[in-house]
Amino acid sequence: MLSQPSAATVRATLPVVGGAIGDITGRFYDRLFTAHPELLRDLFNRGNQAAGTQRQALAGSIAAFATYLVEHPDERPDVMLRRIAHKHASLGVAPDQYAVVHEHLFAAIAEVLGDAVTPEVAAAWDEVYWLMANALIAIEARLYAEQGVTADDVWREWEVVGRVEETPEVATFQLRPAAAFRVPDFRPGQYVSVQVQLPDGARQIRQYSLSAAPGSDLRQISVKRVRGGGPSPDGEVSGHLHAHAREGAVLRLSAPYGDLVLDESDADTPLLLASAGIGVTPMIAMLEQLAASGHRAPVTVVHADRSPAAHALRADHAAYTGKLPDAAAHFFYERPGPEQEHPAALTGRVDLAALPPLRAGTRAYLCGPLPFMREVRAQLIGRGVAPADIHYEVFGPDLWLGQA
Ligand SMILES: Cc1cc2nc3c(=O)[nH]c(=O)nc-3n(C[C@H](O)[C@H](O)[C@H](O)COP(=O)(O)OP(=O)(O)OC[C@H]3O[C@@H](n4cnc5c(N)ncnc54)[C@H](O)[C@@H]3O)c2cc1C
Ligand code: HEM
Repeated sequence: MLSQPSAATVRATLPVVGGAIGDITGRFYDRLFTAHPELLRDLFNRGNQAAGTQRQALAGSIAAFATYLVEHPDERPDVMLRRIAHKHASLGVAPDQYAVVHEHLFAAIAEVLGDAVTPEVAAAWDEVYWLMANALIAIEARLYAEQGVTADDVWREWEVVGRVEETPEVATFQLRPAAAFRVPDFRPGQYVSVQVQLPDGARQIRQYSLSAAPGSDLRQISVKRVRGGGPSPDGEVSGHLHAHAREGAVLRLSAPYGDLVLDESDADTPLLLASAGIGVTPMIAMLEQLAASGHRAPVTVVHADRSPAAHALRADHAAYTGKLPDAAAHFFYERPGPEQEHPAALTGRVDLAALPPLRAGTRAYLCGPLPFMREVRAQLIGRGVAPADIHYEVFGPDLWLGQA
């Protein structure tokens, strides 16, 4: 809870801090990475830094957190905090690093806002920062403990024991522990962080959703190779995995994290699982789990892709849906291919009007590019689905967070 005087100061300075937050986070990262180049090399995603998306997500989250605090002084924006904490825990972010971030963030604020940062303003925003940081540190401590790891020891070695080329762009890697360690449980929808050493010596980390249900010591991820074009280079980690992760290779994985998971209370709830492109991966794990657990409530499966040939895990997608007693899959393709091969395919963008009406009380899980999720979310709300029942995963820094 924010103290009363700080709440008044934060409320009064939100417009000026909010307006400058893009510059502040830009200066913050410059300062942080100048002082600690190893953080950019081995912890932060340098693709996101180059594209600017991570600074937008951090900026959005701080401004949204401060706004939330002044509007709801007795509550905490738990959805936002949980998402960040899961990501941090999958990376091994440690409590003492919050002081490092604090130092460079507040130096950046002073640099950008100059005299506007009176001692009173600095103290009020300091309170906001530590409220957020301490909330994150507490959730992260719990997440580490639940998975039996510590912040300074999150990586475990897994051996590639199978590889399937799903499409020309997507490969599935099956992994098993390369040594004896406790294999933590996970819930369908969760992801692992994968750390690879690149030719320039950098150890870069990316997240990959587990694309098979829990239940064995094997883990499965499905990775789309990101192709460059124009000024954009090829994706570093996806390219590295496609080139080097063959049977016998060893990968470093974090424990599973992520808060887009099937809920226990989903057993009797009508579900909608909507994905686009490589956003299919968490949906496959969820569907496999639903099929394995004998789920009986209605399930609507929606997927959008360029073509059937580009639709990774298409056979699993259809087969797991087919095992459910009250489920239907609706695949939308920009180029559906021969009608006789894909008689049930729909053409064009996802249009929920082309589907049977959704059941009352439907809970939706979305995963795909932001424009896809925005569109589906709007369609769902238009069909009476409660915003609180729409859950989503973004395969990058969550630029929605500030608006969630
Ligand atoms: C929770 C979560 C789950 C995910 N699950 C999956 C999954 O199941 N399967 C999957 O395939 N992916 C998944 N992802 C995405 C994955 O983590 C990576 O983001 C993806 O593989 C791309 O990483 P990369 O290293 O190959 O590309 P990067 O090197 O990170 O590049 C990303 C983009 O930035 C551009 N870029 C990089 N540097 C520059 C530059 N200097 N100038 C301009 N542009 C630049 C690249 O061209 C590319 O378009 C998930 C992400 C999250 C957050
Ligand atoms: C109060 C302080 C902090 C806030 C508000 C914050 C906020 C965020 C947010 C919003 C994201 C994006 C989450 C998403 O994927 O959607 C993120 C990711 C990340 N954070 Fe933090 N963070 C804080 C502290 C830290 C600290 C102390 C570190 C460690 C030095 C750290 C390292 C990272 C890294 C490495 C990522 C992933 C970056 C990427 O993939 O591009 N953060 N954080």
